Amino acid sequence: MEAKITLLPGDGVGPEVVNAAVQVLETIASRNHHTFTFTEALFGIAGINATGEALPKDTLAACEDSDAILLGAVGGPAGSTPPGSPRPEAGLLGLRKHFGFFANLRPVKAYPMLIDYVPLKKELVDGVDILFVRELTGGIYFGTREEANEGNDHTSAHDTMLYTTPEVTRIGKIAFDAAQQREKTLVSVDKANVLASSRLWRTAIDTLHQDYPDISVEHALVDSFAMRLMTHPNDFDVVVTGNMFGDILSDQASVLAGSLGMLPSASLNAEKIGLYEPIHGSAPDIAGQGIANPTGTILSAAMLLRHSLGLENEAKQIEDAVEQALNNGARTGDISGDGERISTQEFTTEVINAL
Ligand code: IPM
Ligand code: MG
Repeated sequence: MEAKITLLPGDGVGPEVVNAAVQVLETIASRNHHTFTFTEALFGIAGINATGEALPKDTLAACEDSDAILLGAVGGPAGSTPPGSPRPEAGLLGLRKHFGFFANLRPVKAYPMLIDYVPLKKELVDGVDILFVRELTGGIYFGTREEANEGNDHTSAHDTMLYTTPEVTRIGKIAFDAAQQREKTLVSVDKANVLASSRLWRTAIDTLHQDYPDISVEHALVDSFAMRLMTHPNDFDVVVTGNMFGDILSDQASVLAGSLGMLPSASLNAEKIGLYEPIHGSAPDIAGQGIANPTGTILSAAMLLRHSLGLENEAKQIEDAVEQALNNGARTGDISGDGERISTQEFTTEVINAL
């Protein structure tokens, strides 16, 4: 197979972890006789500094001309862009919106060999395997907003949480379909005791449920769900929720995997092209040191093979190799406790050796 992959290394540790994932993809390509062509493009702070925009036009054009996009991270400490520049995060939101990547899949797995690094009781976390399905192009991230400005004396600001039935239905379908492939249970998380948009969300999920009589559905309120996610994480299999709740809960759930650095994600639309990125941020505190955990990005590359290129076997090879490397004791700093820690490159080489 031939595939074009656009790389958006972005900011902070982004370039380091994307480099790691590309090495793994190149190994997969040569072993399985595929040709992957990589095109790197400016994004985030690098984009702002070169062109004034977090998502430059040439970058968008490169993405449009590709089969999939692999992204590192965006954002950085205050002062990393000239005053008055757009926020680097705006590039990521713009990319999601431009391609209509409404479905964000964030799988969270408790790896048995990392369970000692989870700050929760072992027996509670053992066996955790949850798929978060986060709505990604609607809700409060994209509703109308007003910043504090001269017109309001710099004393008020607002954001709007808006959902429409078609938006909830299309993300709901992704979640119900995933539940059918998994344990046939779905938890839909909202704040229906307060928010009108959540009450609409609930109604839309219930209506859709009629098409999926084999799936059991629970509606959960986000506050108590956040608690149960820590006290009974094994009760959950597929979780569907809106943009902001999904943002918060997926970081919270990363605790179950031992480190934020472990988790991949896929952002999909109705077509084959997808955006793949680790869920961690740019980690400016460790950027440039070659010590970041590349697992989230390597596993994102596996999701890319699965969802955009239809290469299920190759995706599985990467996932197995990561597990093998971890079983062999490969540990970056975030998952090593007081034990021996290896560099991003050494970890990547361990994964490649396990392929
Ligand atoms: C994420 C990130 C982004 C989000 C930021 C960087 C805009 O936190 O992908 O979870 O809030 O969606
Ligand atoms: Mg987030």
